[in-house]
Amino acid sequence: MTDTFKPLIETLKGKRIDPPPIWLMRQAGRYLPEYRAIREEAGGFLDLCYSPEKAAEVTLQPLRRFGFDAAILFSDILVIPHALGQDVSFDAGHGPRLDPIRSVSELRHLSKDKLHESLQPIYETVGIVSEDLPNGAALIGFSGAPWTVATYMIEGKSSRDFKISKRWALGDPNSFQILIDLLIESTAEYLVRQVEAGAEVLQIFDTWAGVLPKFAYDRFCFKPICEIVRRVKRIHPRVPFIAFPRGAALYLPDLAQNPEIDCVGIDYSTDPEWAANNIQPFATVQGNIDPISLLAGGHELERGVHSVIKALSGGPHILNLGHGIVPETPTANVEKLVKVVRG
Ligand code: CP3
Repeated sequence: MTDTFKPLIETLKGKRIDPPPIWLMRQAGRYLPEYRAIREEAGGFLDLCYSPEKAAEVTLQPLRRFGFDAAILFSDILVIPHALGQDVSFDAGHGPRLDPIRSVSELRHLSKDKLHESLQPIYETVGIVSEDLPNGAALIGFSGAPWTVATYMIEGKSSRDFKISKRWALGDPNSFQILIDLLIESTAEYLVRQVEAGAEVLQIFDTWAGVLPKFAYDRFCFKPICEIVRRVKRIHPRVPFIAFPRGAALYLPDLAQNPEIDCVGIDYSTDPEWAANNIQPFATVQGNIDPISLLAGGHELERGVHSVIKALSGGPHILNLGHGIVPETPTANVEKLVKVVRG
């Protein structure tokens, strides 16, 4: 471990840094021609996730091009269900496909027995990237949050209304809790191993947190995220955590007030001035340029970036998108974003 100055890490300790450190959710991906080339070589998407040399290469591509302050491990949130024994595949153009689990009795097909054996290549990726990181950049490991991962496991694919998973969670919460508990346990162990392989920061993506009523959000999003953080910090107390429950802005202050959560990601629909008043007093704020504004580019992008930076300039802020970058985004717009942020 070196002790070079890393703006992202300093911000996560609560320091205000000007200009704010910048990285982008889903910064490795299809908008980059160099990603598409390696993706083609690798065959399937999961094959790419499980090929440490290639996954390390695509993790570092966006840093070489744009000089971001962080690399995020190239993998996917759905490697956990895969490592638990569920069939997972990614069809080009259709997103993920899983052999859906629809009842508590089907949970018996899942097992933690081979969890780390399956995930071993991912720990290797983390190790390679941590050796090759550019000076001053930090390495972010990640996982999905139990609720979001569970929705894919139950629906079997992306969903519009989450009818099947919500029906289970709201109609039979105690049996649903069994799946959530399995995911808490597996995810906490997975993140501990990422830290041991070289991850310096961890982010938990709860993409679908916003579809639950408050009482169910508390039980199936808030509590599981806090429990995972507690378990990881019991072993690695200094690793900073970023929580990103999307679509749940009004619930975020509770999360920010957990002293073990160092940073809260806000999505693009959250008012950054509201976040400055209600989240930033307790935690670093990450966000929240609309990815479609990055896609559109032009003067409005510049204006939007300045207004987010201004709103959050009174405290610790990490400049990021309010959700993942979209594949159609011109790389020139990303270059421009970095230039605008760094003045
Ligand atoms: O650059 C990075 O951010 C690191 C890699 C990363 C991927 N997925 C790679 C990926 C990360 C952090 C994720 C997280 C992820 N995966 C989330 C949470 C964040 C979010 O965007 O809401 C979710 C919900 C998933 C599940 C998932 N993976 C879906 C729904 C899809 C299909 C949609 C799509 O974008 O294609 C994926 C596939 C996926 N994950 C791709 C990439 C680069 C595209 C696959 C390809 O290259 O063919």
